[in-house]
Amino acid sequence: MRAADVSTDLTEVLVTEEQIHDKLQEIAARVDADYEGEDLLLVGVLKGAIMVMADFSRALKVTAPMDWMAVSSYGAGTKSSGVVQIRKDLDTDIMGKHVLIVEDIIDSGLTLSWLLENFTARGAASVEVFALLRKPAAAKVEVHCKYVGFDIPTEFVVGYGLDYAERYRNLRDVAVLAPHVYS
Ligand code: PRP
Repeated sequence: MRAADVSTDLTEVLVTEEQIHDKLQEIAARVDADYEGEDLLLVGVLKGAIMVMADFSRALKVTAPMDWMAVSSYGAGTKSSGVVQIRKDLDTDIMGKHVLIVEDIIDSGLTLSWLLENFTARGAASVEVFALLRKPAAAKVEVHCKYVGFDIPTEFVVGYGLDYAERYRNLRDVAVLAPHVYS
């Protein structure tokens, strides 16, 4: 669905489907060049990263394998709890691999900070991050993110994998959720 289909639930469209598409092509070209000849493993963080992973991985020109990790720091609320809980671990041994974590959003940075430490401890050759969205003003910890799609304001956003209580993930654009939906 597009933002127009649920316009009364949204206050503003921040990033359109077309802008996301163009940005993914641009970042995929950079990743292709940066990892040429390397053993690259894409790791998506469920569930939010499903759309980014699907479109980003297909924009790459290399046959990068992918794995998935499921962690949760939000539950059904709108604010990060700061508690990172593993719901599904990797299937792959990442020892010696060049890992690129694919994320939909960096909010407080707590999830990624924990993942970076965890993957480094498992012996990955390198661990870098691609986050489609980042909220710079919401950072509680600084996370080095090599590839960033869009910096956005500290609003509650949904769409393109991002949910509110599991809804709106299938919105094609990224938009600000109207307060009446969650208050
Ligand atoms: C979201 C998002 C990131 C994390 C970012 O996941 O996908 O993984 O929060 O927040 P942080 O920077 O404050 O840690 P969420 O826990 O909502 O799970 P989901 O992807 O299944 O929706």
